[in-house]
Amino acid sequence: MELTRRQLHTYEEDGLLFFPSLFDQAEVAALTEATETIAAIDHPSRVLETDGETVRALHGCHLMNEVMARLTRLPRMLRPAEQIIGDSAYVYQFKINVKAAFGGDVWKWHQDYIFWAKGDGMQRPDCVNVMVYLDEVTEFNGPLMCIPKSHHHGMVDVMAEQGEGSWKDNVSADLKYSLDAATVAMLVERGGIVAPKGPAGSVLIFHPNLAHGSAPNLSPWDRTMMIVTYNSVNNVPEPTGERRPEFLVSRDASALQADPEAVLA
Ligand code: SIN
Ligand code: MN
Repeated sequence: MELTRRQLHTYEEDGLLFFPSLFDQAEVAALTEATETIAAIDHPSRVLETDGETVRALHGCHLMNEVMARLTRLPRMLRPAEQIIGDSAYVYQFKINVKAAFGGDVWKWHQDYIFWAKGDGMQRPDCVNVMVYLDEVTEFNGPLMCIPKSHHHGMVDVMAEQGEGSWKDNVSADLKYSLDAATVAMLVERGGIVAPKGPAGSVLIFHPNLAHGSAPNLSPWDRTMMIVTYNSVNNVPEPTGERRPEFLVSRDASALQADPEAVLA
């Protein structure tokens, strides 16, 4: 899949692009099965909600599962990322946010890039998120809310909140670098809020400095989403201190080759 010049322009202007039903039902079923396989593995990359039971997120999925690895090489995923980045890309991060029915907790308003800049030593926001919906996303099950155009503001240098001081502060409901109310209000005044809703198989592409977050899921419907973050091969982080685990920051930064033959189902 190639983005048109108009789509690239919209991305530059708004910081996001939405494609309903980019994956078909069989592909969604294969990705859901792979997600369930990974979720059953008791591994530090599996993060639970504060109830200690509900799975909140799975990390480094492309390192653990061949279907997930194939997904990252699909032209539908990789080509738009390469076009947006303007360079060859590799998978920087691959996570699945489950946002379970009745239990999926909040993601406070935040930008992603600050976590990668401060946590990993990423030099520039030359990366992009490609999110695949594994469930239908409605107004009820905690859709991702985004503030269009907020990426033009650049990285808002918020103070880190006190946490236990481990990588878990970056993935829990008590997020380390969240945006304060005044900043969110200012950004919303300029850009409003959108919550792209659509069937399972829809894809949302968004900028690493786009402000986003989501409310808890009070509905009886799961809202599982996969997020592949592609980074430029010329923007590999230069960490100064201890590195976060590989399931949060991929060590293999070699350029991915799109595989038009790859099948998921
Ligand atoms: C969410 O799953 O609603 C938040 C996604 C993210 O910020 O990574
Ligand atoms: Mn985020």
